[in-house]
Amino acid sequence: LSLLNYDQFDTGDSESEEHSMNKMGYKAVLDFISTNVSRDKIKLNSRVTNIDYSGNEVKIRLESGLQPKTFQAVIVTASLGHLKKFARSLFTPQLSQTKLTAIDTLGFGSIGKLFLVYNQPWWSQNTETINILPVDGCTTNSPATDKLFTTFHPMAWNNNVLQGWLSGSAPAAIDAMSDDQVKTAVTGVFRRMLRNNTIPEPTRILRNKWTSDPLFGGTYSYISVAAAKNGASFSQIATPIVVNGQAKVLFAGEATHPDVYQTTIGAYISGRREADRLFLGNW
Ligand SMILES: *[C@@H]1O[C@H](CO)[C@@H](O)[C@H](O)[C@H]1NC(C)=O
Ligand SMILES: *[C@@H]1O[C@H](CO)[C@@H](O)[C@H](O)[C@H]1NC(C)=O
Repeated sequence: LSLLNYDQFDTGDSESEEHSMNKMGYKAVLDFISTNVSRDKIKLNSRVTNIDYSGNEVKIRLESGLQPKTFQAVIVTASLGHLKKFARSLFTPQLSQTKLTAIDTLGFGSIGKLFLVYNQPWWSQNTETINILPVDGCTTNSPATDKLFTTFHPMAWNNNVLQGWLSGSAPAAIDAMSDDQVKTAVTGVFRRMLRNNTIPEPTRILRNKWTSDPLFGGTYSYISVAAAKNGASFSQIATPIVVNGQAKVLFAGEATHPDVYQTTIGAYISGRREADRLFLGNW
């Protein structure tokens, strides 16, 4: 990571507010913001393979073929990981070199989450955080997978769940493992760390394999050293494509927010920003 992240990432006045999901989950947010949208306008399971903005109207190609309906403008909310893989085939004409360099060099995919479900908590009641501190040579027989785990928190609204944070190369490594392999690996590290072989295995692992999902390609954008050196920024991805004085292709998503990138709140705010931009003709 570039040190610029420490300077740039800024939740502003909301720093003291807890921006974490409660037991209602993300679906409650989607249900709320789509209240006034008729169901037939929402097309699920329709992967976009090309956005052609060369003409007066924008044409969309789905996996199932070119769509007859055309659009005055589109807002693209694909993840940075998806853009990294598909930006060169997704747009006709090609995106600007500035945008492509930002997409190529900004970082993505180095943080992940894992939810471990137990029949009952095995950690003590007042536990806030469990940190794994591997010291080379300190434990014998510790497999390489021990290094995949760093931090765990009991979940505030479910006593039986530990939320694990993954970082660096761990998200991709864990995504490549089966649930049983993850259960064995994580239980092994707890047992070795706490010198207690009776710590139970989780009954279930809840996770999304974001790094291996082609629609996401990971989670959490960040300013890499290469991006900092190239002057690449999230704002460059956010800049709308304007043709003949009309915004045709607009960009939203966490990797387009200059201050609260990485977050759902950043993604949400950026979506409103682009909707407002279109609505107010402000580009
Ligand atoms: C839905 O439309 C009503 C009436 O215009 C409005 O008051 C309400 O805020 C809208 N809800 C959302 C979530 O946009
Ligand atoms: C080992 O873990 C079990 C299961 O959580 C717990 O009941 C027991 O007290 C632990 N033993 C020690 C010595 O901490």
